[in-house]
Amino acid sequence: MDQYAVVGNPIKHSLSPQIHSLFAEETQQDMSYRALQIEPVRFEEQITKLQRSGFRGLNVTVPFKENAYNLADKLSPRAEHAGAVNTLVFEKNGHIAGDNTDGIGLTRDLIANHSILIEHRKILILGAGGAVRGVLGPILAKRPGLLTIANRTVEKAEQLVEDFYDIWDAQASSYEDLGRETYDLIINGTSAGLHNEVPPLPETVLGPNAICYDMMYNIKQKTAFVRWAQERGVIRTLDGLGMLVEQAAESFYIWRGVRPQTALVAEILRNTA
Ligand code: ATR
Repeated sequence: MDQYAVVGNPIKHSLSPQIHSLFAEETQQDMSYRALQIEPVRFEEQITKLQRSGFRGLNVTVPFKENAYNLADKLSPRAEHAGAVNTLVFEKNGHIAGDNTDGIGLTRDLIANHSILIEHRKILILGAGGAVRGVLGPILAKRPGLLTIANRTVEKAEQLVEDFYDIWDAQASSYEDLGRETYDLIINGTSAGLHNEVPPLPETVLGPNAICYDMMYNIKQKTAFVRWAQERGVIRTLDGLGMLVEQAAESFYIWRGVRPQTALVAEILRNTA
């Protein structure tokens, strides 16, 4: 049986084993997928050990996506741009290929699952860390009408604008300077929610039919950003569970060459929480 795993630290609450088991069952693939905690030191050694022991591929999550980027022998263009790898393929010739499915996971959830348009729309992204860098390419490739990246540390947002300029134009802002422009879609890519916090966002950014999307998810309760939006009258709020399932589906496709159906999986996860 072909073996796969997600590696991270911490990892015990990962939903990926459940998601990939559902995919494997649905597509009748003979494979196993488990969650493995790895230690912060000697990343490369631990990965090559898994490669030698027969694993066919890995998902890589926090805090190792940059380590995986550095370790890969070759990178897909989207991983190259993201500066991070969440999917490793152990090829038969011994090479390790790195890819990043986070951005396509987000755009598929928005566009295919929720019919939310990006093209010509005004989009505000909160945060300028690794999570945002990982998804920016596929969003910009859809040619938004306006894309603003707001961050506490504005220089990091400015750097992202510069690094992705070859795909499409974006602008950087502080939170204080927001508020004159309204947006159709606001995506929270900060880690503020980990501490139950919301970035200092003026509510005047909310356009009349604004949609708020939190890249974080919580299957048991609403995320802080979703609560923030609902308290201000936003009708369409989404958390990142759909994105998680879609990025998993894309990894599954890279490994197995089969595209699993995703529609029911997020629902199953929420109902079994
Ligand atoms: P990740 O991989 O999750 O993106 P990261 O690279 O450390 O982690 O980035 C965290 C992001 O969340 C940053 O944009 C950070 O803002 P700064 O760059 O200004 O530090 C943002 N962030 C974290 N906590 C936040 C908070 N309480 N309010 C606003 N932004 C926050």
